[in-house]
Amino acid sequence: MTQIKKIGLLTSGGDAPGMNAAIRAVVRAAIYYELEVIGIRRGFEGIINDDCFPMDRKSVSNIIQRGGTILKSGRSERFATPVGRKLAFEQLKKNGIEALIAIGGNGTFIAADIFAKEYNFPIIGLPGTIDNDLIGTDFTIGYDTAINTAIDAIDKIRDTAESHARLFIVEVMGRDSGLIALRTGVGAGAEAVIIPDTSSNLDALYHRLEFGRKDKSSRIVLVAEGEEPNAAFEIGRMVKEKFPNYDTRVSVLGHIQRGGKPTCMDRVLASRLGVAAVERLLEGKSGEMVGLVHGEITYTPLENAVKHHITINPNFLKIVEILSL
Ligand code: F6P
Repeated sequence: MTQIKKIGLLTSGGDAPGMNAAIRAVVRAAIYYELEVIGIRRGFEGIINDDCFPMDRKSVSNIIQRGGTILKSGRSERFATPVGRKLAFEQLKKNGIEALIAIGGNGTFIAADIFAKEYNFPIIGLPGTIDNDLIGTDFTIGYDTAINTAIDAIDKIRDTAESHARLFIVEVMGRDSGLIALRTGVGAGAEAVIIPDTSSNLDALYHRLEFGRKDKSSRIVLVAEGEEPNAAFEIGRMVKEKFPNYDTRVSVLGHIQRGGKPTCMDRVLASRLGVAAVERLLEGKSGEMVGLVHGEITYTPLENAVKHHITINPNFLKIVEILSL
């Protein structure tokens, strides 16, 4: 056990449903273990700006069901610089904050890892991102809600697709990862899932449109956002050019995937990980992300959580192919 008495808590990067449930879990667990908690607004930028306030058990009442983050979020450019991090360290010292819990995704953990090493400052990360693109946890907080929101929207699009015998190209979020597209594609009964930079998926779609069943009354194709803007519109343009007989439309779901009430799965995940993060800090550990693998709490060095390229499970693509007969 360590002597830490006061911890700081922040959310950073893109907001994700379930971040509030994680905030609640951290604050309540910290109080349970007799720690003081300081909430930091707008991520790492809030440390530099000294935008902090003490949190008690009531400050997290009635938030488990709310989307967004009561701590606000942001991507801090200043914290990416040595000067900004020095300022941050000085502010933390001034406020007597001895450790941090940071809820976020890739960018958050890269920044947290640098800071933890540079100043030997205890930090534990909680995976909060709709992208599910971190190593060391089967699911990130927010992913389940986002894919359920996407499925709900696609079911509605399917009504129009059926009524007009259309092919819809639907873009979901995921700049660096196609995991939202993949799972949503299976769940929505998609014709194909296209993850930019894996051109074979586009070929698979062409093949299905050319040689597959012609009497389908609707078709949904899932596209992951990818790094280039307008991925779905570009694919829509190519499909229209190659298959002018299909009545093709493009729909981009956008930020609705980041909002809304978290699902039960995200609330439970956030609650378990939030408690585990506090306990891990008290064990004297630092520079780790707390995750859940096969139902068990796991700890992954922050640098490993962000380091690896997420590989797309080919079984999922195969399932899409088999079931789109
Ligand atoms: O990382 C979460 C995420 O929603 C990605 O899926 C998406 O590419 C990105 O954030 C969008 O970020 P912003 O809201 O800053 O445009």
